[in-house]
Amino acid sequence: MTSYRLPAELDPARPAADSPLTIRVDGEPVTGAAGQTIAGVLLGAGRRQWRTTADGAPRGVFCGIGVCFDCLVEVNGLRDVRACLRRAQDGDVVARQGGSEATA
Ligand code: FES
Repeated sequence: MTSYRLPAELDPARPAADSPLTIRVDGEPVTGAAGQTIAGVLLGAGRRQWRTTADGAPRGVFCGIGVCFDCLVEVNGLRDVRACLRRAQDGDVVARQGGSEATA
C-alpha cells in the first residue's frame, strides 16, 4: 500500500476529473485536488511527517479525525491548525511547526 494518490483517471472510485489546487508548504508548491484536506494533499504528495514534538520526534497524521493533534500546521499565518480537518484551498500557505515553537 502506498500513501501516494492515484491520478483521477486511474482511480476506479473517482471517474470524474479533479479540480486541481496548489498550496505552498514551506515555500514549495504542492498540488492536490479540491475537496482534500491539507493532510490529504501532503500525504498524496508522499509526505508523511511535517511536525516535530518538543523532543524532536516526527509527527504527521495519526488519528486522521481531529483528536490527537499530531498533524498541526500553520495555515495562512494561523498556528495550530489540524491538517486532517482543514480542507485545502487553492493558494493556502502552509508552514511546518516545530516542537519548541508549538503552543499547547
Ligand atoms: S491526525 Fe489526529 S488531529 Fe489530525
